[in-house]
Amino acid sequence: MTDRVVVKILRSHGQAGVSSKYQTYEIPRDGMTRVLDVLDYIYKNVDPTLAYRRHLCNDGQCRACEVRVNGKKSLACLKAIKADDAELTIEPTDEYPVVKDLIVDYGSDLKRGD
Ligand code: FES
Repeated sequence: MTDRVVVKILRSHGQAGVSSKYQTYEIPRDGMTRVLDVLDYIYKNVDPTLAYRRHLCNDGQCRACEVRVNGKKSLACLKAIKADDAELTIEPTDEYPVVKDLIVDYGSDLKRGD
C-alpha cells in the first residue's frame, strides 16, 4: 500500500464541441475512506474549480452523488476506498447529460434527501 492515491477525473463543461479531458491529481491516502472524501479533499485543498455534488444526504438516499468509479456506477458517499486502490478513475454517470465535470442534469429524476 502506498501513502498516496492517484485520482483521474473526467472534466468537462458539457458544451457541444468542447471535448472532455482527464485531469490527474495525486493526494494523500490518509483520511480517504470514501470517494466523496477524495472529491472533498481535491476541492478543498487542490482544485476549487472541480464541480461535483456535495452537501446532500451523504448516506446513499438521494443518489445525487452518483459517478462512475473505475468504470462502475457508484455513489460517491458510499463507495469505499480500498487499501490496495493505487489509482481511481472518476467520471460522471453516463445516464444523464453532463452540466460540468461530475455534475449531471438529473431533471426530475433526482430524489432529494430532505
Ligand atoms: S449524497 Fe450520496 S446518495 Fe445522497
